[in-house]
Amino acid sequence: MNLVLIGMMGSGKSTVGKLAAAKLKRRFFDSDRMIEKEQGKMIAEIFESQGEPAFRELEKSMIRRLMNETDAVISTGGGAPLSEENWKSFLNGTVIWLKASPHVLHERLNRGGSSSRPLLKDSFTVEKIAEILKNRTPFYNRAGITIETDQLDPEESVDKIVRLVSTGKK
Ligand code: S3P
Repeated sequence: MNLVLIGMMGSGKSTVGKLAAAKLKRRFFDSDRMIEKEQGKMIAEIFESQGEPAFRELEKSMIRRLMNETDAVISTGGGAPLSEENWKSFLNGTVIWLKASPHVLHERLNRGGSSSRPLLKDSFTVEKIAEILKNRTPFYNRAGITIETDQLDPEESVDKIVRLVSTGKK
């Protein structure tokens, strides 16, 4: 079964996903990085030149293809769970929400990730992050497993994932 990491920008999906894959001896895929590689453009450039709807189509196609993997760890972009089509793809996986509160997400993104996030280009504030998170929470809540990451460093989140996977418990 694939492990699919979902959650907001700055929730640590890529960092935690990579570490978890290494620990579990699974392959790791990051849908955003795969899209960038395939398109030869950064996500921000795709938003700029083609618009968000075009990016969402590329994202759906990439997630569909990635879910053909078996026993991989797959990190998705923060907006992926808003698509019903992506949830159909996620059926072939265990979906894990890396949950974090707005001020923690802001702090993490402030350490270097805010400029590459087109959705925060015009307003990189705790309030904006809180608004996006509020709108998305019903979608993120569909995950089978939720990990509260506010108090955890990436290694601790990985340990939780490894334990959950090996015991099969939430
Ligand atoms: C997005 C999150 C980004 C990227 C794009 C849109 C979003 O990925 O897919 O900028 O809608 O939240 P990360 O969650 O990895 O930052």
